[in-house]
Order: sequence, then structure tokens, then C-alpha cells
Amino acid sequence: MIAKVALVTGSGRGIGLATARRFLAEGWRVALLDIDGGLLAAAMADIGEPDLTLPLLCDVADGPALRAAVQRAATHFGRLDALVNNAGIAVFKPILETTPEEWARTMAVNLTGPFLATQAAAPIMAETGGGAVVNITSISGVRASTLRVAYGTSKAALAHLTKQQAVELAALGIRANAVAPGPVDTAMAKAVHTTEIRRDYHDAIPLNRYGLEEELAEVIIFLCTERASYITGQVIAVDGGFEAAGIGLPTLRAARRNL
Ligand SMILES: NC(=O)c1ccc[n+]([C@@H]2O[C@H](COP(=O)([O-])OP(=O)(O)OC[C@H]3O[C@@H](n4cnc5c(N)ncnc54)[C@H](O)[C@@H]3O)[C@@H](O)[C@H]2O)c1
Repeated sequence: MIAKVALVTGSGRGIGLATARRFLAEGWRVALLDIDGGLLAAAMADIGEPDLTLPLLCDVADGPALRAAVQRAATHFGRLDALVNNAGIAVFKPILETTPEEWARTMAVNLTGPFLATQAAAPIMAETGGGAVVNITSISGVRASTLRVAYGTSKAALAHLTKQQAVELAALGIRANAVAPGPVDTAMAKAVHTTEIRRDYHDAIPLNRYGLEEELAEVIIFLCTERASYITGQVIAVDGGFEAAGIGLPTLRAARRNL
């Protein structure tokens, strides 16, 4: 049987790299796309499967380069079965201090990148009967929070783009879903979450901890496989219960400790 092929953007580290590894573990071949050549080279060396992987140095906000990269992956491997739009950036600033340039760059990477990558990938997937797109949104696109005007808005829009893709691309045999991570212990989270923020998150999450990259990869892979053959147009939160919870968790935990 011919091994399936996935393209994962932002796979030089973090959730994207964990996802690339998980695809390989399930017998897929993987194109790893990232803007950072150093991260990409380190990831390739660490994986150590040159015959099953392809590095693509590319900025997802650069339309022509992105289209060429998607095409290169398909030409190299002979097919494309899954696209994971994972590359993302976070600018965490108050509304009044967010510059037009920061707003535009966040939208270009987090929203326009997935739009363009899917536009390039869909016809290629259709040639072999279809495939799957998974967009990585965020719990910040579901619930508003402080300092997330650009980031949260881009992710909320990406959630809607997912539904739009699901509706229109079903005719090509392509399913489109989103995974909305809660806080995950990655380099991105370490860079923007202070000790106080980490404590606040723990307080707000029923499972009382950050997620692991592998816990995200598990759901992303599931959505790309035939195991999810009747799921499309969904945004699945992988967030320890963060979205489900209202107020009162720390009080409830304290009460349980005193039982
Ligand atoms: N870590 C979290 O807590 C968390 C929470 C919610 C959502 N997310 C989302 O999950 C995704 C992955 O996050 P992560 O924590 O693994 O991030 P990360 O910063 O650890 O990794 C992101 C990767 O994307 C690459 N990248 C950034 N801009 C790019 C561009 N323009 N073109 C190509 N590659 C680019 C980076 O070089 C990096 O390798 C992002 O979309 C992020 O918004 C993360």
C-alpha cells in the first residue's frame, strides 16, 4: 500500500513537530514546512528519516512561495493526503497598543496562510480522491481574553474559514476541521506566559495543568485519518476543559481538599 503524505506547516518545533513525528509513527510520509531554517534542519536531523520527510523553508504569509512549496511536496512524494495549517504567531498586546503592522502580520500568518495553503493543496488532494485539512486555531479564538485582539480575532476567523472549507471542499472529498488548543507547554507558551499567567491558567482549567504537544498531535492525526471519515466542519477543543468551565474552580478544589 502507498504511504499517505501530510504537509505540516510550522513543524520546526512545538505542536507541528510533534504532529510530524506522529504521522511518521503511523506510517505516513511528511513534508515539514517552517520559516526558520535552523529549526527545520534540527528537526530533520532529530527525526533522522530523510527518505520519508521533506524540509520546506517557507513563510506561510508569502503566497507564491507557499503555493510552490505545496506543489513541491506533492511532486516529491507523488500525492498529498493531509494538510495541517499549524504555523502561527502570537502578538499579545492591548488593543490601543497593537500596531497596524502587528495586526496585518498576525492575520497574514494565522489566517491568510491557511487560506492560501488549502487553496493550493485542495486540487492536488482531489486528484487522489480527496483528503483532510486540519487548521490549528486556539481557545483564544473561542473565548476573549486580555491582550489577544489580533491573535484571538485571527483564530476566530480561522475557525470560520474551517467551516467554509468543510462546506465547499466536501464536493472534492476533502474534510476540514480545526483543533483549538488550550495552553500547551511549547516554546510559544513559555515565551508569553509568566508565572502568574501559568497560575491563572491552572486555576481556570478543570484538569489543572497545561496540555502536552503529543496530546494535540493525537487529535490532529485522528482527524486526518479514515477513523474520522464522517467528521467535517468541527472545531475540537483540546484544552483540559477550559472552554467548558465557568467561575469557581479554585474554590471547588479547595473545598474538596478540606473534605
Ligand atoms: N502553545 C500554546 O499554548 C498554543 C495554544 C493555542 C494555540 N496554539 C497554536 O498552535 C500552533 C502551534 O503553536 P506552538 O505552540 O507549537 O508554536 P511554536 O512557536 O512553538 O511553533 C510554531 C512554529 O511555526 C513556525 N512559524 C512561525 N511563523 C511562521 C511562518 N510565517 N511561516 C512558516 N512557519 C512559521 C515557527 O518557526 C515555529 O517552528 C499555532 O498556530 C498556535 O497559535 C498554541
